[in-house]
Amino acid sequence: MHFVRSYAKINLTLDVLGQRSDGYHELITIMQTIDLYDTICLIANQDTGVRMICTHPELSNDENLAARAAQAIRQRLSLTQGLDIELHKRIPVAAGLAGGSSNAVAVLLALRHWWQLPLSTADLQTIAATLGSDVPFFLTGGLALCEGRGERVTPLVYRLPPSMRWILLVKPAISVSTASVFRNLTARDYSDGTASRSLLATLAEGGNQLPLENLHNSLEHSVLEQYPQVAQAREDMLHAGAPYVRLSGSGPTLFSTFSNLSPAAQVQQQLHAQGYEVYLTHAIYPDDEKKAD
Ligand code: C5P
Repeated sequence: MHFVRSYAKINLTLDVLGQRSDGYHELITIMQTIDLYDTICLIANQDTGVRMICTHPELSNDENLAARAAQAIRQRLSLTQGLDIELHKRIPVAAGLAGGSSNAVAVLLALRHWWQLPLSTADLQTIAATLGSDVPFFLTGGLALCEGRGERVTPLVYRLPPSMRWILLVKPAISVSTASVFRNLTARDYSDGTASRSLLATLAEGGNQLPLENLHNSLEHSVLEQYPQVAQAREDMLHAGAPYVRLSGSGPTLFSTFSNLSPAAQVQQQLHAQGYEVYLTHAIYPDDEKKAD
């Protein structure tokens, strides 16, 4: 039996450069894992299949990315050992936080370790990329630059500045389909990657402040226009005192950042009182976990 944590991410920037001939969009995005996680328990069973059990019944099926990750490994290495995957969900689903993608990688890494599988990092990268565009990011996690359709990952050694010490997430009570958000983009939403490149340069300098205009998300305009609940949540966050508000991924989760806990907690409490699902969290890096062990 094995317990593992599976962390969520936010997109600090997301530049959509344009549409590719394969239908996907070319991206430059800077992603960061955050201290909001699902817990996965892997249990060997006497059958020959993979059984998925999730605290969200609608996710207890073979289509769950965690189950698909286990199947991908079993097929690749012709394994017959049966497996139960129990998934305690805390990361909001279809929310722009890549919970499903993170779950998939947690299963890949845990099975490789547990079953001592002969899988190289390159093998895992190939399997991860077949499961989804933002799955490979979680093989390293932390802070990373992701390009292509999101699967070309460059881990970054930088840390977020003190002005981003606390990250407040607000999840409006709707789910958003990533495919439909990308489908609704028009040329006016495309950018040239300046925001991600400027953020990269600012992070490399290690300054205390980040120019907020660097935190651009090319999907935000379209999501705010299409989903009034997200636009309303954004207004409510600003009204409650958030210094700025950005969309994570294709949303609907919005985030803001704070250097100090008190103002962050104040904004959190006000939004919670207004009925929002709110999480006060922070960036997390792969090394943090090792230190905690
Ligand atoms: O790769 P993934 O299955 O997670 O992507 C979900 C959907 O989002 C894709 O089917 C595609 O429509 C859209 N997408 C895109 N460009 C990307 C990533 C995703 O158009 N770079």
